[in-house]
Amino acid sequence: MGIWELYAEVYDSINLWLPYRKMLEAVIDELPVSSGGSVLDAGCGTGNLCRRLREKNRWAEIVGIDFSPAMLEKAGQKLKNANIRLLRMDLNQPLGFPGGRFDYLVSINTLYALDDPARALKEFHRVLKRGGRLVVVNPVSDIRPVSFNRRMGFDKDRIDSLGTVLDISLAVLINMVIYLRSRFNRYHFLSEADFREVLGRIGFNTVDFRYVPEDQSIIVIATK
Ligand SMILES: C[S@@+](CC[C@H](N)C(=O)[O-])C[C@H]1O[C@@H](n2cnc3c(N)ncnc32)[C@H](O)[C@@H]1O
Repeated sequence: MGIWELYAEVYDSINLWLPYRKMLEAVIDELPVSSGGSVLDAGCGTGNLCRRLREKNRWAEIVGIDFSPAMLEKAGQKLKNANIRLLRMDLNQPLGFPGGRFDYLVSINTLYALDDPARALKEFHRVLKRGGRLVVVNPVSDIRPVSFNRRMGFDKDRIDSLGTVLDISLAVLINMVIYLRSRFNRYHFLSEADFREVLGRIGFNTVDFRYVPEDQSIIVIATK
């Protein structure tokens, strides 16, 4: 079982973690999708952002892609009747969409795990319409797990069973593995300068940054 298949089993305990919820809302604020507009969620996981997008906009076209069958299975259960298309795709490969297909492309905490983030960003640029917007969330390059943990806030009222505590514990452990992989250059936690350089090279026009939650993730906003 790969890390994402295991993570899928406990992933939604992350919804009890307040910085994650704050981050989702900050991302939603950057996605003013019009009715009839289209959004691709690249690395949609269990579908948390897709669900929030649908709550905000009944008529937008929302497509979620991920390569993990277990993640997609959870997303499918969560998004039943939400009119959201979920597709299995590997972001290390060219995407199965024509160029200029989407108004928005959002990718949360997924880019770091890809073989070559620059290649994936180039593909994101290709499938966006001219004037379309890219919103990427990635852990900051100088993440400090100790202070990060100290500042972790959970929705304690909803931690009401041993099962939930175990789910959170496993999720924290998986995040430590992700952090260690970044230290051994297997995963890519990028700085503002890294993003500026690669997005400029690919041909994005404006590039802007916000920091959430608790300054441990960077939100990158770029326009094609
Ligand atoms: C940390 S989760 C983030 C999920 C979701 N974006 C969220 O914020 O809740 C990372 C997701 O990236 C997906 N992923 C990792 N590598 C991938 C790849 N090569 N192609 C497609 N999805 C990938 C995993 O399956 C997982 O669902």
